[in-house]
Amino acid sequence: MPPPPGSDELVFFVNGRKVTERDIDPEVTLLTFLRRNLGLTGTKSACGGGGCGACTVMLSRHDPASGKPRHVSIPACLVPLCSLHGAAITTVEGVGSIRTRVHPVQERIARSHGTQCGFCTPGMVMSLYTLLRNHPQPSEEQLADALAGNLCRCTGYRPILESGRTFCSDSHGCGQSGAGWCCLDRPGDDSSPPGSSGLQAHVCSELLPKAEFQPWDPSQEPIFPPELTRMAESPERRSLTFRGDRVTWVSPGGLRELLELKAQHPEAPLVLGNTALGPASKPHGRVHPLLISPARVPELSAVTESRDGLTIGAGCSLAQLQDVLAKSISELPEEKTQTLRALATALRKLAGQQVRNLASLGGHVMSRQSSSDLNPILAVGRAALHLLSEGGARLMPLDELFLAGTASAGLRPGEILESVHVPYSRKREFVSGFRQAQAPQNAMPHVSAGMRVLLAEGTNAIEDLSIAYGGLGATAVMAPRSCQQLLGKPWTEETLDEACRLVLGEVAIPGPAPGGRVEFRRTLLVSFLFRFYLQVLRELRRGRAPGAPSTLSVSVQHWDIWRYPRLPDQSLGALEDLPVTVPQGMQTYQRVDPQQPSQDPVGRPVMHLSGLKHATGEAVFCDDLPRVDRELSMALVTSTRPHARIVSVDPAEALRLPGVADVITAKDIPGTNGTEDDRLLAVDEVLCVGQVICAVVAETDEQAKRATERVRVTYEDLEPVVFSIQDAMRQNSFLCPEKKLEQGNVEEAFEKADRVIEGEVHVGGQEHFYMETQRVLVIPKAGDGELDIYASTQDPAHVQKTVSLTLNVPHNQVTCHVKRVGGGFGGKVGKPAALGAIAAVGAIKTGRAVRLVLDREDDMLITGGRHPLFGKYKVGFKDSGRIKALDIECYINGGCTLGDSELVTEFLILKLENAYKIRNLRFRGRACRTNLPSNTAFRGFGFPQGALVTEACITAVAAKCGLPPEKVREKNMYKTVDKTIYKQAFSPEPLRQCWAECLERADLPGRRARADAFNQQNPWRKRGVAAVPMKFSVGFAATSYHQAAALVHVYTDGSVLVAHGGSELGQGIHTKMLQVASRELRVPMSRLHTQETSTATVPNTVATAASIGADANGKAVQNACQTLLKRLEPIIKKNAEGTWEDWIEAAFEQRISLSATGYFRGYKAFMDWEKGEGEPFPYYVFGAACSEVEIDCLTGAHRKLRTDIVMDAGCSLNPALDVGQVEGAFLQGAGLYTSEELHYSPEGALLSRGPAEYKIPTAADVPEELNVTLLPSSQTQLTLYSSKGLGESGMFLGSSVFFAISDAVTAARRDRGLAEDCTVRSPATPERVRMACQDRFTEMIPREDPGTAKPWSIPIA
Ligand SMILES: Cc1cc2nc3c(=O)[nH]c(=O)nc-3n(C[C@H](O)[C@H](O)[C@H](O)COP(=O)(O)OP(=O)(O)OC[C@H]3O[C@@H](n4cnc5c(N)ncnc54)[C@H](O)[C@@H]3O)c2cc1C
Ligand code: FES
Ligand code: FES
Repeated sequence: MPPPPGSDELVFFVNGRKVTERDIDPEVTLLTFLRRNLGLTGTKSACGGGGCGACTVMLSRHDPASGKPRHVSIPACLVPLCSLHGAAITTVEGVGSIRTRVHPVQERIARSHGTQCGFCTPGMVMSLYTLLRNHPQPSEEQLADALAGNLCRCTGYRPILESGRTFCSDSHGCGQSGAGWCCLDRPGDDSSPPGSSGLQAHVCSELLPKAEFQPWDPSQEPIFPPELTRMAESPERRSLTFRGDRVTWVSPGGLRELLELKAQHPEAPLVLGNTALGPASKPHGRVHPLLISPARVPELSAVTESRDGLTIGAGCSLAQLQDVLAKSISELPEEKTQTLRALATALRKLAGQQVRNLASLGGHVMSRQSSSDLNPILAVGRAALHLLSEGGARLMPLDELFLAGTASAGLRPGEILESVHVPYSRKREFVSGFRQAQAPQNAMPHVSAGMRVLLAEGTNAIEDLSIAYGGLGATAVMAPRSCQQLLGKPWTEETLDEACRLVLGEVAIPGPAPGGRVEFRRTLLVSFLFRFYLQVLRELRRGRAPGAPSTLSVSVQHWDIWRYPRLPDQSLGALEDLPVTVPQGMQTYQRVDPQQPSQDPVGRPVMHLSGLKHATGEAVFCDDLPRVDRELSMALVTSTRPHARIVSVDPAEALRLPGVADVITAKDIPGTNGTEDDRLLAVDEVLCVGQVICAVVAETDEQAKRATERVRVTYEDLEPVVFSIQDAMRQNSFLCPEKKLEQGNVEEAFEKADRVIEGEVHVGGQEHFYMETQRVLVIPKAGDGELDIYASTQDPAHVQKTVSLTLNVPHNQVTCHVKRVGGGFGGKVGKPAALGAIAAVGAIKTGRAVRLVLDREDDMLITGGRHPLFGKYKVGFKDSGRIKALDIECYINGGCTLGDSELVTEFLILKLENAYKIRNLRFRGRACRTNLPSNTAFRGFGFPQGALVTEACITAVAAKCGLPPEKVREKNMYKTVDKTIYKQAFSPEPLRQCWAECLERADLPGRRARADAFNQQNPWRKRGVAAVPMKFSVGFAATSYHQAAALVHVYTDGSVLVAHGGSELGQGIHTKMLQVASRELRVPMSRLHTQETSTATVPNTVATAASIGADANGKAVQNACQTLLKRLEPIIKKNAEGTWEDWIEAAFEQRISLSATGYFRGYKAFMDWEKGEGEPFPYYVFGAACSEVEIDCLTGAHRKLRTDIVMDAGCSLNPALDVGQVEGAFLQGAGLYTSEELHYSPEGALLSRGPAEYKIPTAADVPEELNVTLLPSSQTQLTLYSSKGLGESGMFLGSSVFFAISDAVTAARRDRGLAEDCTVRSPATPERVRMACQDRFTEMIPREDPGTAKPWSIPIA
């Protein structure tokens, strides 16, 4: 195709190769170009909005000033391709390859077991690689900073950080150095912490094979392309223009051209980082016909220092701003740098490094986002904006008028921001910035603030005061009237109180304010004021402290410091934010028997088979498959109503759009449209917002998505509409009958108990947030009507079956292939089948291949997640803490269709007793039918929600008895061989071992005593400690699900191909299967291979779920290998000295089949719900965790100080993978219980649809010390080599963090003389923690009268 007239040539480099493009569409991002045009699919797409880091690449530009290239990490998903003229891009493929040389960064992340599904790994590698290009020996702080913008849903981050730490200048062994038991400080690798019980003989702690790492030589890195250096040194001064179908991009070569262009097109936005413009345009499909890029205008990047302040070019990136501030802060006297320091502190927490590298100061200031971290500080710091236009220059204050405006308000037509002037602070002037967000890192603030005070010379009277807040409403706001009224007042507590009252009166947050959390945000307004008051007081007092650093005393040296009230020691805790550190810890596991042959890999910490491919980007995921001939993209049209009749669906407008091939509706389905209850495509009624109505297929993804907006659906709203569990209970809206288990005589036991209490527990839902969203590629084969389906699924047989039913073709014409899945966690058991079937209908109707890739917003909207739960308990107990009777009633929010909800209810009820033997028990559960997307399987399958009710009840009993909760737990725990409530016998021995070992390792009594002492000293910071035991049942509660098959081929060169029915989700099932085959065949793993999971190779498979995948499939692989070996036995006997290859050759000669199937006719499992008896689970995994946290009572933030986990893994097949599962699940659990919060609008639409609104844990959420111990091997004949499945169980151990937070909150409430709160709500978000720690500030807050205003979001649990 010829380039559009008038387009210039875009020149940039990718991985050392020159790319020249004329035919550039300004709407194309770097990510799309890399993946689609260059086939560089190592760079992944997981959110499309800069929030996850999966698409991180390195951008390098020559800096003429320093004469060197500047390397920065950037999110490729936000970078317009047109912005790259003269830049060099390095992707993960350019760093290293398994075909040539794997880079040390890639090698170390893989060998440190820092990859599981591997979807986040290329992004992690690129962040680390860029760090090293800039800092060959980074500090740990720089490491933490570099990874702050990268999310991982699998690993729990610890091994990724460990791999990065091997490059750090301040790295000390395994992180235990100084604690006295660093593995590098000791001979051998026996490493038991002080106080451990000696169970640790033969333990090993070396999951980081440092000795094997190749050294890194920075001098060997590729040089910056000389051609780009030349381009940068003699830049073209003419404007560059790139024209697309809808958008034109102009990059003026100089300031004059820029101003001319802006004068001609005043409405055209300037694009710098595109981090505000890009995401803002996306949801509404907003198009700006002209985009002006001022990146090549040097004046916009200038930084000048003057006598009164710094003037920073609007084009400077936020990362450059950080450098500028750091330099000035180090060079100038402290009194001048108050505003600069506040900005530098705020920048450290603003987004991740990738976004800061891209986003500009000008874009930040001008986009005037409400939650801005910087604008409130700039506003109080008296910053001014240098505006330029053809008509001249002018200065505009960055004040309340500016903040209150929209993006272009206050600007004259044609005006641009040239620079921002930040005045130096004056003597006796103090400036601070504050923020509180849902998570410690990479999270937009709920509230941000900037505060400045100038005290009058020689007095403590307020001469000038300025307060600004972000995050409260549509714009950032200031409190000028309050500040005015406080002038002349002394800096005292009384003035603080008055300031709080005034500010609360002036700065209103309306009840239905977007973002909700109204009372919390109001509380933060005054909590921040208090913190500012104390900070100023501290600085004032520091002025007289003997030995105070001279820099600190400068601003107060002439003052009468006696004038200032003493800063009570107890208030110090209220001064600072909680710190973020790189975690340390130890992972211990049983070493294999020294007699085990070295070839036998079972029990050894073998690296994930795809680890290196994950790290080099060569691991192929579903959407990395090359486009096939005439392939179409599919996008889904979903319901915008929670319950409605579909009056009409009109696709006409969509069909007229360019590239649109067809619109697929229910009428196009040749076979069955799902079930009566659960349609694939809605027919005449919709039951929730997000239900799929129809689908558009078009030539490109963008065209398909755009067309979905043009399909006109007319609705007629229907009643009833039910969202919450409580509404469903009131309206008797249930999906299935009640499930109940009972033993003993509950009512009688209540009568006999010393005390009876009741309580409620609310547990929010959880989004799977697998990094790879749902995706499927359907390829119809010419000729026989066959279909190949490539899906990211945990259950390929289910995909095959659903597609065949939908198309009305036999199963044998449909083959589902799964190479690897970028995380599943239960969310890819059911949904991929429905999506595969819809895509298959599109493929059959059009006769073309169809690819369906959900973007993050749609994935979160459509697919459902963990069931929210509401639990009520009534418990009768003795004063000693012995529980006599327990009655628990649970309701889960199942959403609009049955799906897995009945099964989840059953599992929930079966597992509710957790680790406790209580003679009189009654458990009841029901699944509520609501008008929300159907909730589904999620790691733990009901257990993490249900057991929280049980543990909350135990905690409440302990509180009533005045006993530590662990004592009550111990008292009620199973002690000897016994039967569960459903009469299944088991031995609790490993449970008790885990519990005892955990408490001992964690030194729980000592820790509790130290926490108590800390709490006495600190009214504003509280520490809490908690330990939870766990009995987790593994497997499906149905015999037919416990089967697996395998197919093993040996080829004549001796290489072995292993196929089995499990999907590789990151858990390392393929690795474990080859370990099994290697042991059985006595062949090294290097001779073994597995290609994919396919319904054509191993039919009728069961979902890879319920923690039993490796166990069941491993037995099938074992069976196949044993069959083969049996056939080979006579040959081996005859030639005992021969090699494997000799035997295979001989077998072939003798016509012995070298291919065998294996089968595992699994565990028996049954449950008779009528009788309440059965043996629903093959076996149990036991564990215990103890966590210690510290909360900030003023903001509700917490830090995880330490977690000790002890798990019973039986004889681990692979301790590295198993520890990875435990740590990853633990952190996912900690996310469930502390930060992951889903919000729904009053109309039932999910509001949290991406990483910006939904906070999964980041690297900063890992406990500062995380120790994981796999209990020394215990033998059981039942399972494969006595191993146990650890996929899910660790999830619940995250609740130890929740209970530690509750413990800390209880300490705060005790201090304040408040009653214990028997209503438990998970997650323990900063909002909930802050509001529970009531104090004088929460008391000042005007309360919203429920029902007076329509809330922003509604509770559903
Ligand atoms: C994942 C993510 C996380 C984030 N987290 C935070 C956070 O924690 N805290 C926070 O405060 N912010 C956060 N942000 C917001 C971020 O700071 C802003 O998006 C960014 O600073 C905008 O800069 P930009 O260069 O990308 O602007 P662009 O998107 O390029 O432009 C934004 C707007 O500014 C205008 N503009 C730009 N330059 C000029 C100029 N010189 N003259 C006139 N108009 C101009 C444009 O016309 C446009 O309307 C986050 C953003 C993302 C994507
Ligand atoms: S895909 Fe780019 S940051 Fe998430
Ligand atoms: S390994 Fe990080 S998301 Fe899966």
